[in-house]
Amino acid sequence: MRRTTSPLLLFLLGLSLLVWVLPAFSQSDMVVVNRDPFPKAQRPAAKFEHDAHNEKAKLEDCGACHHGETDGKMDPANTSEGTPCADCHAANPAADPKLQHKTPLRRAYHLQCVGCHEKTGKGPLACGQCHAPTAQE
Ligand code: HEC
Ligand code: HEC
Ligand code: HEC
Ligand code: HEC
Repeated sequence: MRRTTSPLLLFLLGLSLLVWVLPAFSQSDMVVVNRDPFPKAQRPAAKFEHDAHNEKAKLEDCGACHHGETDGKMDPANTSEGTPCADCHAANPAADPKLQHKTPLRRAYHLQCVGCHEKTGKGPLACGQCHAPTAQE
């Protein structure tokens, strides 16, 4: 008698597939930047269609945005895709002593997004172009 595929193995296989597929879905479905770190947001959520944006902007290097950290310094080679920016950049650093010496989240986003648009001369610079009232959560 040979029963090679155990139900447990199948279950684990399915589970690992799910883990691989889920982040890909959420990232390609993304149309605005996650607001959870800003519970009292003043502006509509910033428009950011992750995959479409990066295709149009020809950004293949994930580390251009998802930089990692080495010895407390930002390190684009040590990428962090899948880790929320807010894990390292607190919306309110005063409330999080571990992150006090790091750039606050809102500033980090503005430096990264607006910074590249300024540098390349492409992409929106005006508040209302990113924080568009039509963008939905
Ligand atoms: C290139 C896009 C872009 C531009 C231009 C931009 N922002 Fe933002 N802003 C963001 C992103 C991304 C976040 C973080 C995610 C979010 O809040 O939607 C953010 C967050 C914020 C927040 C914190 C969250 C909130 O709503 O309270 C404020 C306030 C804000 N921006 C105000 C402004 C103002 C004022 C301007 C113009 C001077 C501006 N932004 C221009 C992308 C942009
Ligand atoms: C122009 C900047 C930019 C580039 C380039 C970029 N991303 Fe992102 N990505 C973001 C932002 C901003 C978020 C939202 C982060 C947050 O919520 O903290 C995000 C979120 C994600 C998420 C989490 C999705 C979710 O819904 O939580 C994954 C996974 C991801 N990116 C993977 C990638 C991969 C892989 C690449 C390279 C092929 C890449 N990203 C390139 C900006 C970028
Ligand atoms: C693993 C931790 C980590 C993650 C995740 C991370 N960062 Fe950073 N980031 C750092 C560190 C460390 C620095 C250097 C110290 C500083 O300036 O805050 C830095 C610096 C920056 C700077 C430069 C600030 C300056 O003054 O030049 C920007 C902009 C920035 N991060 C934006 C982002 C954005 C946007 C995301 C999410 C897409 C992100 N970071 C994700 C750790 C991280
Ligand atoms: C490394 C460079 C770079 C970074 C970082 C970047 N962008 Fe852009 N963005 C571009 C370029 C280039 C374009 C113009 C693409 C085109 O040719 O249409 C653009 C276009 C846009 C547009 C208009 C086109 C569209 O997709 O709707 C929006 C909105 C936008 N960016 C938002 C953001 C936000 C929000 C962030 C930060 C989370 C961000 N960008 C970070 C380079 C960048």
